[in-house]
Amino acid sequence: MTHQQDMIDRRMCVAPMMGWTDRHCRYFLRQLAPDARLFTEMVTAEALIHGDLDRLLGYSAAESPLVLQLGGSQPDRLARAVARAAPWGFDEINLNVGCPSDRVQSGKFGACLMAEPELVAACCRAMMDETDVPVTVKCRIGIDDMDAETGLDRFVDTVASAGVSVFYLHARKAWLNGLSPKENRTIPPLDYDRARRLATRRGDLSVILNGGLETADQAIAEMYGCAGVMIGRAAYRTPYVLAEMAQRIFGRVPPRRDHVALAMADYADTMTKTGVPLHSITRHMLGLYAGQSGAKYWRRQLGENARMATVPGDFIRETSAFCEALAARRAA
Ligand SMILES: Cc1cc2nc3c(=O)[nH]c(=O)nc-3n(C[C@H](O)[C@H](O)[C@H](O)COP(=O)(O)O)c2cc1C
Repeated sequence: MTHQQDMIDRRMCVAPMMGWTDRHCRYFLRQLAPDARLFTEMVTAEALIHGDLDRLLGYSAAESPLVLQLGGSQPDRLARAVARAAPWGFDEINLNVGCPSDRVQSGKFGACLMAEPELVAACCRAMMDETDVPVTVKCRIGIDDMDAETGLDRFVDTVASAGVSVFYLHARKAWLNGLSPKENRTIPPLDYDRARRLATRRGDLSVILNGGLETADQAIAEMYGCAGVMIGRAAYRTPYVLAEMAQRIFGRVPPRRDHVALAMADYADTMTKTGVPLHSITRHMLGLYAGQSGAKYWRRQLGENARMATVPGDFIRETSAFCEALAARRAA
């Protein structure tokens, strides 16, 4: 099969993060980065086959472009999951071949699949048969003692031969024995050059660089040679970095923080009427004022006091107004 790079803009992506990038989080991040490609948390094929689709897949139109990330290693099960998800209109389906957690390994999916490129290729082929949107892969540069040069090349070449042309590359190995998932995101060394060598060798593919990117300057500096960057923890902890990146990459004027808060207040008013607890929304917004006066107050209010709010939207509006007033007083 030959590859034609699709024309989709992946210069700026926000990583899938279990427990973090749920629909409320994504709606919030979207306010800061109108053009970013957002990812769902990983959903396992089995959950999709047996579970409540509204709960697992529900999202707001504003979150698009949105990528559904799946976990699994059985081609027929993944194909079924993709077919179940099809009516929800995701823009892309991504297979998780990078997650190192024990639970995921025991189900034989995630990063351990890097040792089984033929199986990953079969999974992707089966998924492609069920959808017209791109099927892509997120992986590491290797696992354990796999050679990060030949092993990664073989993995990517095999999976690409199934028709996958987009690889989101967390540019460090996963060490599957002995490290916790959290340690596996910090201890194995980052190797951006390895990602760039892959991007150069396979200029017909899109390689998106991920891992350890924290600021807009750093992301822009490291992006060269790759089709884009994917930001995870920094997007969650210091979300305004997305607005700074969107300015550098897309020429977007960064939104004022209080305008983001107002959009979220309206969203909270709507969502809480459907039974969503306010805290499920505000817990993702704690970093909005990071580095600004009022940051501490904002974090404490949204983190600890949201449960006591009587009018959800007003709670966010008033907290934001207080932070802005604090900043204005400091600036005067
Ligand atoms: C809390 C958390 C949950 C994560 N869950 C997933 C996941 O579901 N699927 C996945 O492919 N990667 C997952 N990751 C890894 C991220 O997508 C990303 O590859 C990693 O954090 C490195 O990028 P960063 O340094 O920009 O955070 C998770 C990371 C974190 C911090």
